[in-house]
Amino acid sequence: EKAGFDHFMLKEIYEQPKAYRDTMMGRISADGRSVELKEIGMTPEQIRSIRNIQIVACGTAYHAGMVGKTIIESLARIPVEIDVASEYRYRSPIITPETLVIVVSQSGETADTLAALREAKRCGARVLAITNVVGSSVSREANDVIITQAGPEIAVASTKAYTSQLIAFMLYGLFLADTLATREKDWIADVLASMQKLPDQVEMILERAQVLKQVAESLAKHNNLFFIGRGVDFAVAQEGSLKLKEISYIHSEAYPAGELKHGTLALIEEGIPVVALITQEDLYEKTLSNIKEVKARGAHVLGLVNEGSEVEVDELFAIPCTLPLLSPALSVVPLQLLAYYASLARGNDVDKPRNLAKSVTVE
Ligand code: F6R
Repeated sequence: EKAGFDHFMLKEIYEQPKAYRDTMMGRISADGRSVELKEIGMTPEQIRSIRNIQIVACGTAYHAGMVGKTIIESLARIPVEIDVASEYRYRSPIITPETLVIVVSQSGETADTLAALREAKRCGARVLAITNVVGSSVSREANDVIITQAGPEIAVASTKAYTSQLIAFMLYGLFLADTLATREKDWIADVLASMQKLPDQVEMILERAQVLKQVAESLAKHNNLFFIGRGVDFAVAQEGSLKLKEISYIHSEAYPAGELKHGTLALIEEGIPVVALITQEDLYEKTLSNIKEVKARGAHVLGLVNEGSEVEVDELFAIPCTLPLLSPALSVVPLQLLAYYASLARGNDVDKPRNLAKSVTVE
C-alpha cells in the first residue's frame, strides 16, 4: 500500500504532481482561458455582493489559508481576514450576510473548524469549504464545496493536502477575478498556463531529493533553528517549521524576515541553522539584507531561491521559476523533504509522530 516507499509521508510527497493535476482537472476551460467551478452555486450577483472574506482553519490548513489570503486579496481585491479555528468564535468576529467564510480542512472533521463553520452560518454568512473528503461533516454543512483531489492522506503530517489546497485557492481566486473583472482575461490565461507547468516543476524538485537528505542529516544534529521569509515566503516558512517540529521534534520558529531585528535576532548565534526563503522578486533586496543580518551573526544559512538567482549563503537550493503567487506550491516541497529526512535521521516514527492524531475531533 506504500507503493514501494518507506513511509506514507514520502509516498504522499511524491504524489503531489498527480494531486495538482487532479485538482485542476475539469476545472479549466478547454481553451485554457478561464476557471470553471461548476460546484460553486453562487450567482455572479451574489459574488459581487461579497464585502469581506474570513478564512478559518487549523494547523497546516491554516498555513494554506495564509497563502489563500494573499491570493484572494491580490486577485479579487476583497479584504480577507484569517483565523485559526480555535480562536475565531471567541473573538466575536464581525460576520454579516455579505461575509463569505472559507473553511479549509483536509479531513473535513476537525472539531474547531466545524464549530466555526456552524457559527458563521448561524450569523448568516455563506460558507465555502475547501476539503479533501467527499461526504465529510464540513463538506455536508457548507453551502459550497471545492474538493481537493489529493486522494487519501494517511501520514499524520499533511503534505499533498496542503499543496492541493494552494491549487484550490488559486482556482478560486482566478474564478473571483474573472467574475469581478478585477483581472484581464489574458492575464488569467497566462496564470493558468503557469499553473499547468507546476506538476512537472515539482518532479524536477523531487529528482533532487538526495541533496535535501544530506542537508537534513546535518540539520538533525541541531536542537533549534529558524525559517525566515517575507510575504508568501513567510507563510511557507511557517508550514516548513510546523512540518519539522511535528515529525523531527526539533524546535524551530518561523519569522517574517524583517521582524527578526525586533527581538529574535538575539537568539542568532554561531552555527545556528537558518532556512531563508527568497522567491518573491519585489521583496528580494529586503530579504537579502535580512539574510546578511543573520549571516553576520554566524548563522548557517540554507537559501531557497528561484533558479538563476545568486544569493550568498552556505547552501543553496533552487526551485524552478514560476509566478510569485504560485511559488509556495514549489517552495514547500523541499521543506517537506527536509522535515521527512530529519525525522528519519533522528529515528522517529515518521508517519505517526508522538502525541498527534490525524484528525482532531475534540475542541
Ligand atoms: C500538520 C497537520 C495538522 C492539520 C490540522 C487540520 O501536518 O496535519 O496541522 O493540518 O490538524 O486538519 P484538517 O485539515 O483535517 O482540518
